[in-house]
Amino acid sequence: MQRLDDRMIIAPGPGDAAALAEVHVASWRETYAGLLPDIYLWRMNPQLYTRRFRRQLMSEKPLEVMLAAEGRGGLSGYCAGHVDNDGRRAEVSTLYLLKTAQKLGLGRRLLVATARVLQARGADSLSLWVLDGNEPARGFYTHLGGLPVQGRAVQGWGGGFRETAFLWPDINGLTGSV
Ligand SMILES: CC(C)(COP(=O)(O)OP(=O)(O)OC[C@H]1O[C@@H](n2cnc3c(N)ncnc32)[C@H](O)[C@@H]1OP(=O)(O)O)[C@@H](O)C(=O)NCCC(=O)NCCS
Repeated sequence: MQRLDDRMIIAPGPGDAAALAEVHVASWRETYAGLLPDIYLWRMNPQLYTRRFRRQLMSEKPLEVMLAAEGRGGLSGYCAGHVDNDGRRAEVSTLYLLKTAQKLGLGRRLLVATARVLQARGADSLSLWVLDGNEPARGFYTHLGGLPVQGRAVQGWGGGFRETAFLWPDINGLTGSV
């Protein structure tokens, strides 16, 4: 039987920066253990991310959007994206849920809600990058109709890695899915 979840999708403000940073760092450590170097993951500093989130949420950027999942225990995930300067292509830059909040439908709710806001701002396609080796995320995006279209090498996070782009050529394929 499917577990029910009563979390709400909210638009976080600067006051949520510390909670977002905690989710971000904890989710990276859970997700990328064995994929990124331990030393990089353990050096991730929540205070640094708190400042970054606060700055991001204090600056009004009409082409960017961030949504978060909030429940009785606080924030448990978030998703952020933006529309390119051409106004037609959306990119989701981050989607992270704590392990305890996964497999409850929240990832889909966050991604679709973010895509809907980006669509309302003019986007007609959506893409995102996934670290190679993150098979659960690849399975999730494939299940939601994303197509793996392109690979690239990236330098950062304490080494050299590869990522794959997933594309929804028609954003309706995602926004019409709930
Ligand atoms: C990947 C992630 C966002 C998925 O969110 P989630 O809340 O666990 O997934 P949901 O419960 O919303 O799943 C939605 C649907 O996708 C399916 N699904 C989820 N993961 C799947 C997988 N690995 N393979 C196939 N289907 C999958 C679910 O069964 C569900 O299907 P249904 O609604 O048709 O029955 C979440 O697990 C997460 O944050 N993982 C860690 C961070 C991460 O890897 N982020 C992505 C970085 S690019």
